[in-house]
Amino acid sequence: MSNIEEAENRIKSLTEQINHHNHLYYQESQSEISDYEFDLLLQELIQLEQQFPSLKKIDSPSNRVGGDITKDFATITHKYPMLSLGNTYTEEELFEFDQRIKKLLEIKYQYVSELKFDGVAISLIYENGYLTHAITRGDGVQGDDVTNNVKTIRSIPLKLKSNDYPSYFEVRGEIFLPFSEFEKINKEKEELGEPLLANPRNTASGTLKMQDSSIVAKRKLECYIYSLLGENLPVQTHSEAMEKLINWGFNVSPTYESHENIESVLNYIKKWETARFNLPLGTDGIVIKVNHYIHQQELGMTAKVPRWAIAFKYKAEHVSTLLESVEYQVGRTGNITPVANLKPVLLAGTTVKRASLHNANEMERLDLHFNDTVWIEKGGEIIPKITSVELSKRIHNASKISFIHQCPACATPLIRKENEANHYCPNELSCPPQIKGKIEHFIHRKAMNIEGIGPETIDQLYDLGIIQNYADLYSLSFPKLLTLERFGEKSANNLLLGLEKSKSVPFKNVLFALGIRFVGATVAEKLAYHFKNLNAIINASYEALCEAPEVGDRIAQSVTDYFKNPHNLKLIEQLKSAGLQFYSEEKTIELEGDKLSGFTFVISGVFQHFEREELKLKIEKNGGKVVSSISAKLNYLLAGENMGPSKLEKASKLGIKIISETEFIAMIG
Ligand code: IVH
Repeated sequence: MSNIEEAENRIKSLTEQINHHNHLYYQESQSEISDYEFDLLLQELIQLEQQFPSLKKIDSPSNRVGGDITKDFATITHKYPMLSLGNTYTEEELFEFDQRIKKLLEIKYQYVSELKFDGVAISLIYENGYLTHAITRGDGVQGDDVTNNVKTIRSIPLKLKSNDYPSYFEVRGEIFLPFSEFEKINKEKEELGEPLLANPRNTASGTLKMQDSSIVAKRKLECYIYSLLGENLPVQTHSEAMEKLINWGFNVSPTYESHENIESVLNYIKKWETARFNLPLGTDGIVIKVNHYIHQQELGMTAKVPRWAIAFKYKAEHVSTLLESVEYQVGRTGNITPVANLKPVLLAGTTVKRASLHNANEMERLDLHFNDTVWIEKGGEIIPKITSVELSKRIHNASKISFIHQCPACATPLIRKENEANHYCPNELSCPPQIKGKIEHFIHRKAMNIEGIGPETIDQLYDLGIIQNYADLYSLSFPKLLTLERFGEKSANNLLLGLEKSKSVPFKNVLFALGIRFVGATVAEKLAYHFKNLNAIINASYEALCEAPEVGDRIAQSVTDYFKNPHNLKLIEQLKSAGLQFYSEEKTIELEGDKLSGFTFVISGVFQHFEREELKLKIEKNGGKVVSSISAKLNYLLAGENMGPSKLEKASKLGIKIISETEFIAMIG
């Protein structure tokens, strides 16, 4: 599109469509178009805004895809402190709360009750209808400015609907990661053999504090708003405020209810005691609020908490059941995880059959004996945990369950490294679950992305001795594949085609697919970009590896160990002959200028305005070159904070010019 007017109209129409679909999705739980069609609209908008930057509005839905980087979150003082609530656990305590209110108010009052959402509290500031600040609770007085990250949350309006809002007001709510999203992330992590996230609340809170908002955007956080604060509000009660918030475009959970008396609140509590397990997020109780703002003001505060509201906490759901056995799972890196098999029991809405025991320390802590009755609990975590043993039910003379000494799959004696909680099976060359796990990792979508093969086929191929490792996949032939169970011509062709296609996946994926311990998809990408090809990584010293972005001691050691192993080098030779990509495609860099042409730079330390990779790109875009070590030929040492003293010393000795980030910015203008 070349005409600015046409572009303006199209941007307006795309914005309206995207906002309409967002509203339908988050406020009405409906969708008229697929996720794919939605992404197409958004992509078109982003592309047009890039072409015509002056047409981009501050409330454009394209802000939702993130991209802004926050290095340090600014501390902001809350205009209205973010309070906490008093807790109650019993009916009696609630009646006492009601009696106190009755005595203080002496006139009729109502309550509103809501669920107590288990997420991260947030304060959102709106000025003239636009979201201007999003601040975490912090210590209640001061919090962190996480506006860039919060703008990516689609259920938070960037611009309000209607126009009867005050010019300045704040809303408070809870940011959360729905169970479904949390499970999706963990499933992917499990497939990749990465450590799992503990629970949705911690994930939401960690995500909010990420530096790169485009990663936050991918995490699909959501937000429920539950209070309105400000002067000259157009409402008199909390329930009216909730209605207004909905009209202005906020996402208010439809679960709140008004009550004429405390008995009605108790019914609400009973109703949600189990019904809450069908909600998309964790809840740990109920919040009861006096409805009228005048009444709230009259009741005021105690030293710490408001007198007009209180939380009722449900007891953490726990049940006891029989421990039937403990089994040990072997991961692709040889990691041994003990898992408790339990007599199936209903807990917090789901049937529980298993619980992770994590490692030998946890088993020791619980002091498990055969046939023990154990207590299990679901806290914020999705995976239930065994909290204790019911000693009164322990069978006389029952023997203690001790951690195994040999691998359950290949009988190799297990090892446990100093200061590590986990046991490992060191037999990486012939322990079946390790090899099968490595092959499953190799074919993964984020690795070689090989279509036409799954865990069952891998089992068969390995059990029949057709393949011994992932490199053998490339020697599979059509007749061999036809000998497999449930494998016809079509599936054989599919798999061969999948293997063929995988030969063109980029080097970073190949590097990730090798399954080097601690080299996840991100580290693989950084290594591939930094070293450009596999030989450079194989030949890199431990120190040179440590210089790559995101690589610390642990990763550098693991990479060195991997390439020291002749078996792994043999696998790589096999993969090379198969024709996989072992070189990074050189990114074509669009030059911004030639001010640095002919100059070489070493970058060291931490910088205020740029990530290291960004600095590198900036230098290259201006014609310069970045090298890794200091020599007499070097032109500049670009020094950030906390740079190593040895580098500084070497550069000074050689008389190399040392420049700061500010000087560098001045150099490129
Ligand atoms: S009202 C003075 N409503 O609980 C009233 N809080 O213990 C303050 N929370 O920091 C909050 N759901 O993070 C309120 N429906 C709800 C809530 C809720 C969860 C959290 C919130 C707050 C904490 C207070």
